[in-house]
Amino acid sequence: MNNHAGISYSQGAKKALEELVNYLKNSREGKSPVVELRPMAELAADLNLAQQIREGGLNDENIQEFLHKYLDHSMHMHHPRYMGHQVAVPHPASAIADMVHGLICNAMSIYEMGPVAATIEREVVQWMLEKVGWQVEGGGLFTDGGSLANIHAMLAARAALDPHAWTKGVRQDMVVLAPENSHYSVARAVSIIGLGHESIVPIPTDRFEVVIPDTLPDLIHQQRDQGKAIMAIVANACATSTGLYDPIDEIADICQEHHCWFHIDSPHGATALLSEKYRPLLKGIEKADSVIWDAHKMMQTSSLSTALLFKNKEHYYQTLSQKASYLIHEKENPGYDVLPYQIECTKAAIAAKLFFVLAAVGEKGMGDFIENLYNNSRTFATMINNRQGFESNIPVESNIILFRYQPDKINQLTLREKLIKTGSFYITSTEVKGVRYLRLVIMQESSTAEHIEALLDKITEVAEGLN
Ligand SMILES: Cc1ncc(COP(=O)(O)O)c(C=O)c1O
Repeated sequence: MNNHAGISYSQGAKKALEELVNYLKNSREGKSPVVELRPMAELAADLNLAQQIREGGLNDENIQEFLHKYLDHSMHMHHPRYMGHQVAVPHPASAIADMVHGLICNAMSIYEMGPVAATIEREVVQWMLEKVGWQVEGGGLFTDGGSLANIHAMLAARAALDPHAWTKGVRQDMVVLAPENSHYSVARAVSIIGLGHESIVPIPTDRFEVVIPDTLPDLIHQQRDQGKAIMAIVANACATSTGLYDPIDEIADICQEHHCWFHIDSPHGATALLSEKYRPLLKGIEKADSVIWDAHKMMQTSSLSTALLFKNKEHYYQTLSQKASYLIHEKENPGYDVLPYQIECTKAAIAAKLFFVLAAVGEKGMGDFIENLYNNSRTFATMINNRQGFESNIPVESNIILFRYQPDKINQLTLREKLIKTGSFYITSTEVKGVRYLRLVIMQESSTAEHIEALLDKITEVAEGLN
């Protein structure tokens, strides 16, 4: 039996592409709602999911109709009024890379299963190492997301401190010093590798939740006096909630002086390395031991595509030492297998997405992109501050802007909820030192001052309905 029944690549993909092209045009022109959030059960019924799963029937004739509904009810990332989470708005070149992998499926963990994808990963990693400043001695790989990269980085730090942990189990005297506002994946990583949440020691931060480096030496001494071994010190570049960078250079010096592994959690902010103007935000990055850098945040690729980079390639080689003899064996290999050094077994061509975008825009184009977003965000914050009833008193360093509207009268969470329900904007919200803010993440150059003016108008209008 032909299990492709009714759907062909030539016709099905052509129809799908037509629909996607329309979707992209409408999204970019802001013709559709950014998102229309409907209850899950309603969506499942409308898309006829249960029946299709059981009976099949998707074919060259009806795929376009199905996709139309699918896309209609999805989040429209290319909409200029999407200002939500730190998820990249994919560049067409990244979407084409996904399309290629979607068909050829070269699972490139071992060279022979994906020679081109594996070669691309090597080249892209080398380029990223060079940007960090680790061209010669460094090593790294691509992995499925920043959360997994943080787990891997913590494993590397653990292996550096206690190489026996892999075979003998985990000592319970290890601690990790991390900012109070570090991403939840750091705490998860520490638990996953066997240390437990309580082994995270919060590093004090200032009123904007930026690490106060002067507090670190005392914290290190306190921990060591209590018999603790410091497995790693973590910094944000930038923090998820505020978009502010911790003082990397000062923290790095303290880590070096006290012989502590320094991990920079920079899936969002590392792309500033490509901008001459904003690279100083990462001053000292080359003194770290490990760095994570998501392409699917600020480098215009679809998710997921994360680089995990080590200053010392020995850490990259030695962290995971398990053997899979059917895959890892002595062989004449014309290329390089990444499998022994990564957590995944099967891995998609995730670096290829970044390669395709870079191949289209070049590193200068990517640098200009981030610089524009960071510049625009500063302008937008000033606009917000100049509007009656709005305040944006958290500095802007990246493309994240926090603000409040009439905080004495209005619950900011309710305001956000009502705003999103209108379908006209998608924004997020966060807390800084216990205070609730509305949060914009400016992810595309097509989000302009005009859209910000419209946003402020809309918020004012929605708020009137709440009074
Ligand atoms: C600072 C930081 N670390 C880690 C992560 C997790 O990355 P990912 O979403 O790629 O798993 C995020 C995501 O927002 C982040 O902001």
